[in-house]
Amino acid sequence: MKLAERVSQLSPSPTMAVSAEASRLRASGQEVIDFSIGEPDFNTPDNIKNEGHQAIDGNFTRYTAAAGIKDLKEAVVNKYQSQYGIEYTLPEVVISCGAKHTLFNLAFVLFDKGDEVLLPVPYWVTFPEQLKMVGATPVEVLTEEKDNFILRASAIKDKLTARTKAIIVNTPNNPTGAVIPEEEMEKIVALALDQNILIIFDECYEYFVFDGSKHTSLAQFANRAKHLSILVNTASKTYAMTGWRIGYLIAPPEICKAIGGVQSHSANPASVSQKAAVESILGDQDSVSKMIAEYDRRRQYVVDRLNGISGLSCANPGGAFYAFPNVSNYFKNGIGNSLEFSQWLLKEVGVAVVPGSAFGQEDYVRISFATSMENLVKGLDLMENVLT
Ligand SMILES: Cc1ncc(COP(=O)(O)O)c(C=O)c1O
Repeated sequence: MKLAERVSQLSPSPTMAVSAEASRLRASGQEVIDFSIGEPDFNTPDNIKNEGHQAIDGNFTRYTAAAGIKDLKEAVVNKYQSQYGIEYTLPEVVISCGAKHTLFNLAFVLFDKGDEVLLPVPYWVTFPEQLKMVGATPVEVLTEEKDNFILRASAIKDKLTARTKAIIVNTPNNPTGAVIPEEEMEKIVALALDQNILIIFDECYEYFVFDGSKHTSLAQFANRAKHLSILVNTASKTYAMTGWRIGYLIAPPEICKAIGGVQSHSANPASVSQKAAVESILGDQDSVSKMIAEYDRRRQYVVDRLNGISGLSCANPGGAFYAFPNVSNYFKNGIGNSLEFSQWLLKEVGVAVVPGSAFGQEDYVRISFATSMENLVKGLDLMENVLT
């Protein structure tokens, strides 16, 4: 069958080869320590689950407004008001089925064939694929290990052309954990204002900041840059709600209106999930602090252990729940790249990691610490044995 041209542009996920092999090993009874997972290992907190139960029991189970229920939009407005003192209005908010859906909608309503979108490397795997799906051209902007993978305005400047329409900024970053400092965000915003380019700002890991790092939101620049600011956020990571599928957008009203229209003819979020998400934002945040403290404990352990292996180097992730060590010293004896390294590691010791090629950076692998301390100890012991 001949499929649409846009599908042929999609790259098969480089993670597939590793996860297929991990599944095969598990099925054959071998233990696999999985460091490849990009979602919290915690359960959704009880207060949030209870709201979901109540929504079902109260028959809040019908279609909702395509762009999301008023309560949840108000909760989002409230959150940004209390965190940053910025007054957004309801027409500036759209609720979607996860940030991935939000980002897809954005690509769909904003970009035409040939529009260039600046994409910092390493990037979350989905960004370039969504851009390609709508015919936009991702233009890579490199960040470097020796600079802790911080996105620099100067690197963005070098890649601007007359076709540049937007830049994607993701802080804290998946996969590197890099957190863009406030003074660099200032420069990025100034450049975007000067060049009149949109900033698509993914702050899905906003609360996952460690070691004195501070998250700087694009919302903080709203008084100058609201007209080109597009904020993307999610309930998935902070509240361990990946399966509920709630993400949201704060953007200029014309963008929100267009996305509301698209959602009215495609997909919009589940009623029950939206009610639960209201509680996630407005309810007790104690469980969040506990989860973040545990991620921090694991992060310190993982980074220390990785840097203790003489062939590896690992930049300190100031945020998110990933470490991104450089494994290029092991590119020898038949191992030529990050995929082959990951396959070898899985075969030798049963530890699954994601090859850096999935994120546009060949010399690295991503290790998620969204898994138990027990798994981290076991997996890192195994890695240390085989890598030294
Ligand atoms: C940087 C980033 N943005 C967006 C998402 C999507 O999150 P969700 O669709 O679950 O809201 C993820 C998930 O891994 C992510 O890492």
